[in-house]
Amino acid sequence: MKTLVTGGAGFIGSHLVDRLVAKGENIIVFDNLSSGKLEFIQKHIDSGKIKFVKADLMNPAEIDSAIRGCDMVWHLAANPDVKLGASDTRIHLDQNIIATYNLLESMRKNGIKKIGFTSTSTVYGEATQMPTPENYGPCIPISLYGASKSACEALISAYCGTFDMESVLYRFANIIGPRSTHGVIFDFIRKLKANPSELEILGDGKQTKSYCYIDDCVDSMLFGWEHRKARTEVFNVGSSDGIDVKGLADVVVKEMGLKSKYKFTGGVDGGRGWKGDVKMMMLSIEALGKLGWKPKYTSARSIALTARSILGKK
Ligand SMILES: NC(=O)c1ccc[n+]([C@@H]2O[C@H](COP(=O)([O-])OP(=O)(O)OC[C@H]3O[C@@H](n4cnc5c(N)ncnc54)[C@H](O)[C@@H]3O)[C@@H](O)[C@H]2O)c1
Repeated sequence: MKTLVTGGAGFIGSHLVDRLVAKGENIIVFDNLSSGKLEFIQKHIDSGKIKFVKADLMNPAEIDSAIRGCDMVWHLAANPDVKLGASDTRIHLDQNIIATYNLLESMRKNGIKKIGFTSTSTVYGEATQMPTPENYGPCIPISLYGASKSACEALISAYCGTFDMESVLYRFANIIGPRSTHGVIFDFIRKLKANPSELEILGDGKQTKSYCYIDDCVDSMLFGWEHRKARTEVFNVGSSDGIDVKGLADVVVKEMGLKSKYKFTGGVDGGRGWKGDVKMMMLSIEALGKLGWKPKYTSARSIALTARSILGKK
């Protein structure tokens, strides 16, 4: 089995690559290193277990030359910064939608029929049903990032319908763990190192979301792929519980051995961290659950383990 992993040098991608290498798959990592790091996959490059191609999904010729002979694509490359869409309205259109279109075109031309895609809970927008199941609708994203992932999902399912491809679309909650290079835990630790006595928290601290540990995330991807039934399957991926931002800060502060005060910015639009921030996200993971998958870690445990790894603690 020869597999192309776009974004394979990134946080989630490099963990997926670890697992695929352990399964003995023949892997090509395709990454422009815009946020990914070679050090995450260096040991596999050195041992000759993967081939690394530094290339960009905005360049169709580079995709064509890397993808030839592959049986499957795991498509993780994207700009994952939700906040960015509020100041740069072009980035998610290019890096997520056009990049995905370029990849699908290359797959079509080269006869590659299978794709696993990392989507997001933000496609649901402000869902009124909690936990939110995969068949919730209408999906009304409120961030440009969520809109771009929704568009990617639609493109992928349309290519599957039109060109006999198969896909699994994974709608992730917040995925956290070692090698994460962005996100709220990362930001809090950076701020607390600069000022241990006070932590500024964007919003009112009541934004409540589910956090899923990277090991559970990668497990769910491989499990979901093996158990897919429909031509385009959609699976939510998250933990079984949620936690608010204040609760998250409490875990991080405890892991750092601090007693910091919190300063809430109050936020925008009724306590959100930023425009486009969904205030409450809790995904139903029953679809994967019915097939036999369940997460091993709670949100709080995932946060503690992630904080420890960022802090370099055992
Ligand atoms: N981390 C989360 O909580 C989360 C939640 C929902 C969905 N996702 C999705 O999961 C995927 C992986 O996210 P992550 O957190 O590992 O982010 P990441 O930034 O660590 O990984 C993205 C990778 O894609 C590469 N990349 C970006 N644009 C590229 C391009 N044009 N061509 C080639 N490579 C490119 C980057 O260098 C990086 O290695 C993304 O699609 C993201 O939208 C992540």
